Amino acid sequence: MNALIKEQIKRIDSVEEVNCYLSYLLSEAKTLTKEQITMLVWETIAESADTTLVTTEWAMYQLAKDPTRQADRLYDEMRKVCGCNKVKEENLSQLRYLDAVFHETLRKHSPTPLVPLRHVHEDTQIGGYYIPAGSKIAVNIYGCNMDKNHWGNPEEWNPERFMDEKYDPLDIYKTMAFGAGKRACAGSLQAIFLICVTIGRLVQEFEWRLNDGEEEKVDTVGLTSQKLHPLFAMLKPRE
Ligand code: HEM
Repeated sequence: MNALIKEQIKRIDSVEEVNCYLSYLLSEAKTLTKEQITMLVWETIAESADTTLVTTEWAMYQLAKDPTRQADRLYDEMRKVCGCNKVKEENLSQLRYLDAVFHETLRKHSPTPLVPLRHVHEDTQIGGYYIPAGSKIAVNIYGCNMDKNHWGNPEEWNPERFMDEKYDPLDIYKTMAFGAGKRACAGSLQAIFLICVTIGRLVQEFEWRLNDGEEEKVDTVGLTSQKLHPLFAMLKPRE
């Protein structure tokens, strides 16, 4: 990371303006130490790589397991909206089912099952609980997204639940997957663009089927709900 930062500083010094996060931190955040800047830049990489990969892999697992939803709902929608063209960011607002696949995957397989710890600075009441100053609390995102009082059949992967008109298609925070409040995910919009275009392209190009014995492999590993057994699927190029 230090080597990358050095390289970028050289680039910044050699041209008039470089519009990047690091140049912003270097020019505006004068009170930050070198170590703090390194941590901030590292954070965006750490937060963005795993989460987007994990969500895409689980979405492909679910779609490969469910060829009807894959073909009759998702592929069909993309054909109607994009014709023979490749899915692009500009198409996403018209691809409601793709958006529903994304949000349902985030709900069922939240890549960040626990919000990073919050330090409580003053005595406070929240959700009927009294929380004294000095406590540290971790919100259970997995628990929120699987709450039976809020979601019908939470164990079931069912993108149709997000097609209900009560959900605003433009709302990124349909689930708790991106956290909430001032420190909510800073890359949620980028995550939607990246993941939806990737899922869309993978389904436009190939028919996906799970290999025998894959369906049961739903165990996870690590802090970001990675698939313990990497996805094994059969792909057939579409005509
Ligand atoms: C599906 C993908 C993603 C999920 C589910 C996700 C989820 C989260 C969650 C739960 C948090 C903590 C929020 C809180 O404390 O309330 C977070 C923070 C953060 N995320 Fe994401 N994230 C994703 C993708 C990304 C991407 C692509 C980027 C960068 C381009 C990113 C950058 C960040 C950063 C910088 C923070 C820290 C924000 C802060 O502390 O103020 N995330 N993310």
